[in-house]
Amino acid sequence: MSKKLFIKTYGCQMNVYDSQRMIDTLKPLGYELGETPEEADFIILNTCHIREKAAEKVYTELGRLKKLKQDGGDVIIGVAGCVAQAEGQEMVRRAPAVDLVFGPQTYHRLPELLRQVEQDRAERDRLQVAAAEAGHKPAKRKPLRLVDTDFPVEQKFDELVAETESQGPAAFLTVQEGCDKFCSFCVVPYTRGAEFSRPVAQVLDEAKRLVDQGVCELTLLGQNVNAYHGETAFGQTWGLGQLINGLAEIDGLERIRFTTSHPNDMTDDLYEAFRDQPKLMPYFHLPVQAGSDKILAAMNRKHTRQQYLDVIARLRDMRPDLALSGDFIVGFPGETDQDFAETLNIVTQVSYAAAYSFKYSPRPGTPAADIAAQVPEEVKSQRLAMLQELLNAQQEAFNHATKGRRLSVLMERAGRVEGQLVGRSPYMQAVHVEAPQRLIGKIVDIDVTYAGANSISGTVVTHDLSHTPTQTQAA
Ligand code: SAH
Ligand code: SF4
Ligand code: F3S
Repeated sequence: MSKKLFIKTYGCQMNVYDSQRMIDTLKPLGYELGETPEEADFIILNTCHIREKAAEKVYTELGRLKKLKQDGGDVIIGVAGCVAQAEGQEMVRRAPAVDLVFGPQTYHRLPELLRQVEQDRAERDRLQVAAAEAGHKPAKRKPLRLVDTDFPVEQKFDELVAETESQGPAAFLTVQEGCDKFCSFCVVPYTRGAEFSRPVAQVLDEAKRLVDQGVCELTLLGQNVNAYHGETAFGQTWGLGQLINGLAEIDGLERIRFTTSHPNDMTDDLYEAFRDQPKLMPYFHLPVQAGSDKILAAMNRKHTRQQYLDVIARLRDMRPDLALSGDFIVGFPGETDQDFAETLNIVTQVSYAAAYSFKYSPRPGTPAADIAAQVPEEVKSQRLAMLQELLNAQQEAFNHATKGRRLSVLMERAGRVEGQLVGRSPYMQAVHVEAPQRLIGKIVDIDVTYAGANSISGTVVTHDLSHTPTQTQAA
């Protein structure tokens, strides 16, 4: 009989990828993906620890899920991801409803962990029946509660079950995991461990399987994806640019993206890929976090404002139409009005097509959390509002600049409005168009007629549907 699995995913794209792999891994055990926690036999919360709010969401959700057990249900509740890794045993104490706590490097052991929980429960049931038969009041037996937060990352990728679930035309593929940078605000080096690159052949094989399932756009994932240095079968080491070129040779793979990168890990082969590789999309997410050298140093980013600007200049040299996006933190400890003005100023200088911005959130165990000069919440809110106003205006301006152009768009799924499809332009813009369902999974040319703050829309160019659509070339 099939059992139902419910997964709720928080945080970054790597968690989205990981959740997919957990689904694949549990399939041979008879688990099918369900729609609600109520019908589930096994619930997984795949969690994020990056900011306090993200981590707290998990406990709110666990509070809700607890009721499923109080009502006598036999559901197994597991917590995966970065909160699981960071809190481990502590989580079991804080949230008694949890049966399993397992970190990001243990997902290949999921079948074994589940078997242990199931065996433990069977034993509990057996003892209860025996007690009832003997006329005793069944003794309360504490179920087993497992915590597995081991670290060897190599093994995971070797042992995870091959992907079976179709992900639609655009899919994620983790090529690198972990981080050695230790930015002073960030939990990732503690939750994901040391930097590790998957071997080239493993990545190419997985990409081919995904393309066979109908994927035509791949986003390569890594906490520091441009630090990728994978071994080839011939003992060479490939950087990300070489990997992108290798992947581009796969027939049927039309578009390649990657995220997230660090300014200090730029290599010649990656710059050149933006110039020479037509399958690499002209969109680059390169966080700078702050514009002041003083704050960059305190963040342990190990580069200056000017070094970041030099990287951007060289990228634009390679690919003049490159759309840039970034991450920003406001209110890092010690950030003055002057420092913040420099963040606004670097944003103006670069001009972003999209961006993510956050109020600094002190994270337990990170060096910045112990700095005395924390910025008041109110000041953080004001700065965030100012920064977002500027970033939103830039995004809208970027969208407007594409009005009147013909862009190739990958149609990913049906839109909310009947008869509408949603896709992505080469620049990652969300695109809404009236188009027939059969175009889902296809790359079509769109004449952009409308540009809003968050998306663009236009009309499908029908006359050349039989031709290969134009990939946007560098201007
Ligand atoms: N590896 C990526 C990003 C990892 S986390 C990089 O190096 O940029 C994603 C983003 O969350 C970060 O870029 C940063 O902007 C934000 N972030 C990380 N820790 C944070 C914290 N303690 N408070 C607020 N934002 C944070
Ligand atoms: Fe975190 Fe910095 Fe590593 Fe990015 S580079 S994951 S921000 S420590
Ligand atoms: Fe969050 Fe972990 Fe990703 S902390 S952002 S889920 S790497």
